[in-house]
Amino acid sequence: MKLWSGRFTAELNDIAEQFNDSLVFDRRMYRQDITGSIAHCTMLGKCGIIEQSEADTIVAALNNILHDIESEKLDIVGAEDIHSFVENELVSRVGDVGKKLHTARSRNDQVATDIRLYLRDAIDEQTDLLKNLVSALADKAKKEKKTAMPAYTHMQKAQPTTLGHYLLAYANMFLRDIDRLNDCRRRVNVLPLGSGACASTTFPIDREYTAKLLGFEGVTQNSLDGVSDRDFAVEYLSCATQAMLHLSRINEEFVYWSGEEFGFLILPDEFSTGSSIMPQKKNPDVNELLRGKCGRVIGDLVSIITVMKGLPLAYNKDMQEDKEPLFDAADTLSISLKVFTAFIAAVQFNREKMNIASAGGYSCATECADYLAAKGLPFRAAHEVTGKIVLYCIQNGKALQSLTVKEYKQFSDLFEDDILEAVLPKNAIARRNIMGGCATEEIDRQIKILKSQLKKIALR
Ligand code: ARG
Repeated sequence: MKLWSGRFTAELNDIAEQFNDSLVFDRRMYRQDITGSIAHCTMLGKCGIIEQSEADTIVAALNNILHDIESEKLDIVGAEDIHSFVENELVSRVGDVGKKLHTARSRNDQVATDIRLYLRDAIDEQTDLLKNLVSALADKAKKEKKTAMPAYTHMQKAQPTTLGHYLLAYANMFLRDIDRLNDCRRRVNVLPLGSGACASTTFPIDREYTAKLLGFEGVTQNSLDGVSDRDFAVEYLSCATQAMLHLSRINEEFVYWSGEEFGFLILPDEFSTGSSIMPQKKNPDVNELLRGKCGRVIGDLVSIITVMKGLPLAYNKDMQEDKEPLFDAADTLSISLKVFTAFIAAVQFNREKMNIASAGGYSCATECADYLAAKGLPFRAAHEVTGKIVLYCIQNGKALQSLTVKEYKQFSDLFEDDILEAVLPKNAIARRNIMGGCATEEIDRQIKILKSQLKKIALR
């Protein structure tokens, strides 16, 4: 039965009904819907808006419905949306008293409450998943803190660094994603129930009590805003998009690292797939999907902001379109984080190839310029001299490490024997022992900071 059939004389057209119904996708909010209803009903009983015995009957039946859904005794079918489904089921179980549940409530404030509860759970789950990923990256970074590799700018070899340093860069990004999600959680965690359809309610409800029962930190302050605010959904999607962007970037690197030309990364068999025609192939499908899935989450964000753009106050049915993108983004982010964390634990790197690559492309030219600058030559002049040395190397097919001290001295009197040491990648790395740098001790320090930040999140 429809919740609103009173003023209608004809049934809804079949296609219009199919078009209008949201049960197929909002059914997943059954737990949030029932939990919200239990809190609302408990409040109605406490405030004397319905009899305590009536509230008890309704709450008990709601708990039974929840139990029956979870134990798969009850299928969620045959209603307009999850709110109608639960209410119809309630009335079929307890009769007319069940019809009192919706006192001082509208589906407009109910659905806004359900989504907030759903997102709060998603954020908590994803905070844990992100923490696991940051830990996995930190553990891997520890193992690879001495693995030299080139750092790139413009995708050209720039300066030597370590794989540990590189992995920690991403760990920091994912740590910020946790921070962002938890900042967003504060604005998600506010109760809109009590806003009614739009202009609140005439019943003397206790919104703060309901908020407390549901673990909300506060209540929305304006009922028109309460039912029509989806900022928190846009914000969540933007946080999810940002995390997916990070996943997409690191996986782009892993995709080409796994190819023969780079050969930095050894794809674990458990995380790659073959070709139906080319027997030799081992493809980075998981990494490519992690890159590709970012596209759909960006689409989810664009979808909601487009729905919300230009919507007048207060509730409009357009807003039913908020759920599928939200669910899709939440599902996509969760599985992506899980698979990537497992991938990080399993992946191996070709340390030798990375080490060799770290010296290529004159990546120690900055060391040479710094060497001269440390001896008093203004850096700009040191840069110019080093540029000439690089040109000499290019013209003579030499590397900075294969020049003799005599050759160096042709370019400046400041060069001494120790220049040969200065242009070795391992020394370039070891000297970058400043905050944020790539030296081994610094990697240890950065890991410590990350771990203590993760601990702080656990305490919040
Ligand atoms: N299924 C609806 C949604 O998701 C529930 C709210 C219905 N409210 C209404 N006034 N028709 O938005």
